Amino acid sequence: MKTWNVALIGLGSVGRGVAEVLAGDERFRIVAAADSKSGVIDPAGLNIEEILAKKKKTGRCGDPAWPAARISAEAEYDILVEVTPTNAETGEPALSIIKTAIMRGKHVVTSNKGPVSLASAELLRLAEENNVGFLFEGTVAGAVPILRGIKYGLAGNKIKALYGVLNGTCNYILTRMEEEGLTYVQALAEARDLGYAEADPTYDINGTDAAIKLVILANTMLGMDVKLDDVQRTGISDLTVDALLMAEETGHSIRLIATLHPEKNLLEVSPRLISKTNPLVVTGTLNAVTVETEYAGAITFIGRGAGSVETASAILADLLFITDKYDR
Ligand code: HSE
Repeated sequence: MKTWNVALIGLGSVGRGVAEVLAGDERFRIVAAADSKSGVIDPAGLNIEEILAKKKKTGRCGDPAWPAARISAEAEYDILVEVTPTNAETGEPALSIIKTAIMRGKHVVTSNKGPVSLASAELLRLAEENNVGFLFEGTVAGAVPILRGIKYGLAGNKIKALYGVLNGTCNYILTRMEEEGLTYVQALAEARDLGYAEADPTYDINGTDAAIKLVILANTMLGMDVKLDDVQRTGISDLTVDALLMAEETGHSIRLIATLHPEKNLLEVSPRLISKTNPLVVTGTLNAVTVETEYAGAITFIGRGAGSVETASAILADLLFITDKYDR
């Protein structure tokens, strides 16, 4: 059995989850790792626990002479796993790091929404030209296999519409306000403590994070060519506990819903009043996506939309897809 060498870029919550999921898995060996300030390489395989302990103590995982960009460009590895935080404006530095790896003929798996929402067509074309895999299941709905579910599970079906709860932070806030009467500010503080919110939680609250995921779905699964600015966005910061309680009195909940209607060219993220019997009314940090299809009717995917090992689960599936397809 071949062991695939992995370069792990990003040692935050998702990076640690990847290390945990790959620990003891003979199919993979982490031979390089980087945080935002430094990097470390060992062709025999890194001791990630030691590296994380060093990072905790010194603020760096390794040597500043080996930043992520240099690892991508010069280190020996088979697959680059890129799991740094999202930059929605430029996608950098991840976008350049990913391109460099692909152009060296390395496979790339990422959970980073920035590069995929900004440049999926270019990155997929580059990957094809270089005969490598570029996969990003973890960018949308975390552990939920929504991209593979649409691409393969629903292959051949026309997608007529898609409705999703795509931001766990907002869903957690709305659930806590509805069920416990917490204020928006209290609930947001809890969501941040849980580690679900983006580095800048404004992205979650104002609908940007859900909109980015909608762009990824539209461009990579529905053959559209849209940008973040094409998504009409309304966030949840103006919602009050009273509004949620009034909704509840009539058997409804308010959820931040991302809507995609390809034929109407409609892309929207906004709070919507929906019946509690609708499967999209999930609680806590769960995500849910209903896909309306030509032959299969409506199918709803529900599951954990963020988190450390949960996102790593999607990354592992991408890694195994690559090892299966490119066994060389
Ligand atoms: N901040 C995101 C969320 C993380 O709350 O859903 C997963 O993309």
